[in-house]
Amino acid sequence: MRQTLAIIKPDAVGNGRTGRIIAHLESAGFALRAARMVTMTRAQAQSFYDVHRERPFYDALVAFMTSGPCIPMALEAPDAVRRLRQVIGATDPAEADPGTVRALYAESKERNAIHGSDSDGNARREIGFFFPECDRLG
Ligand code: RTP
Ligand code: MG
Repeated sequence: MRQTLAIIKPDAVGNGRTGRIIAHLESAGFALRAARMVTMTRAQAQSFYDVHRERPFYDALVAFMTSGPCIPMALEAPDAVRRLRQVIGATDPAEADPGTVRALYAESKERNAIHGSDSDGNARREIGFFFPECDRLG
């Protein structure tokens, strides 16, 4: 799988980190293949994070992800899904390796600057969710 989905989350967009995060991803070897700015509706965020519906943080996560604009992006690189997860770092910035996007720009475990797809199957689903017109996956 050469493509994956990243989302610059509302905390990072609101704090003016967008340019730095995109530069970081490009420096790490990703090519930007699609991008848009969107303020998700509650229904969109609930659907996007449906895998977490039973988790205790689900309602807070949906509220956070609908709190302002975010920037979904389709990124391309060899081994894109695994590589992006390395570059963004652990969910909690306190546990993220130095130099990762979350170590550099996340505020907290929830307000953690960026999303990255966690499997090839989810990357396909998530790119299709924001970019239904894209047909160059794989
Ligand atoms: P993501 O899906 O955004 O790339 O993050 P992830 O795989 O590292 O983490 P995941 O377990 O999928 O959780 C999704 C997002 O939910 C928020 N979260 N809050 N308060 C908490 O304990 C908690 N745990 C997770 C974060 O925004 C996390 O990225
Ligand atoms: Mg996840």
